[in-house]
Amino acid sequence: MQHSTGYIIGFSAAVCVVCALLVSGSAVSLKPLQDRNALVDKQKNILAVAGLMSSDETLSADQIQTLFEEKIRPVIVNLETGQVDSETDANTFDQRSASKDPETSQPAPTNASKILRIPYDGLVYEVVKEGEVKTLILPIEGMGLWSILYGYLALDTDLTTIRGITFYEQGETAGLGGEVENPRWKALWPGRKAFDERWNVKIQVKKGAAGPAKDDPYQVDGLSGATLTSRGVTNMIRFWLGPDGFGPFIAQLRDNPRWTSVKGT
Ligand SMILES: Cc1cc2nc3c(=O)[nH]c(=O)nc-3n(C[C@H](O)[C@H](O)[C@H](O)COP(=O)(O)O)c2cc1C
Repeated sequence: MQHSTGYIIGFSAAVCVVCALLVSGSAVSLKPLQDRNALVDKQKNILAVAGLMSSDETLSADQIQTLFEEKIRPVIVNLETGQVDSETDANTFDQRSASKDPETSQPAPTNASKILRIPYDGLVYEVVKEGEVKTLILPIEGMGLWSILYGYLALDTDLTTIRGITFYEQGETAGLGGEVENPRWKALWPGRKAFDERWNVKIQVKKGAAGPAKDDPYQVDGLSGATLTSRGVTNMIRFWLGPDGFGPFIAQLRDNPRWTSVKGT
């Protein structure tokens, strides 16, 4: 049986509409699940950089969320003044969204990390163990070679000893710049020092191999074949620990540590 042209066009259009509805329907219905997975992945990275779980440990999403809520306290910081902002709800604040919104961010000065806007508020995490803050976790982000890398840097309460680094989102080449996620490379960071004695940011990812943390505290091995990503990591740490990032907050903490005031909570 021969179908008319009108029938064929109508049938094709109907198939297209049904397929489009199916695709958009599943995209909409899966969105909350995707958002939750992204949140849990971020929480897992924060717990890992805090030393509260290893990156190869398999915990369920619920276990990760419970551990996170128990041990990690989100804190909002006004980046310009360095003061803690207790008015805004830290549990719902999203620094990445805030840095895209002109109402909650401002243009960044030209910088090597190619950061375009800086949020007025930043979201840091305090790691609480036995009622005391042990570690401070700061978000870092900046350009590598191909992509913006998003991660966290964990600092001891002496505000200079690095406890760890992690990246939860990056688009560098697997095996080259993508080695920022390699546990062996991340293991080179704990014990290094972020600042020199005059509180200038000194840590850098060098080209080639650095010594052990106690002899070579300000340098970390470069990623081989990925000098540009390595440089990107140095740049982003310098930016976020510097005056346009969390520098004022760190300066505040040096003079007036929160660790004592939050003890016992
Ligand atoms: C396909 C391809 C992918 C690359 N991916 C990266 C990368 O993710 N990060 C990086 O720094 N360099 C990458 N490079 C290498 C850079 O172009 C550049 O050569 C390198 O950063 C220099 O590092 P080296 O001095 O350690 O060799 C890539 C090169 C090619 C051909």
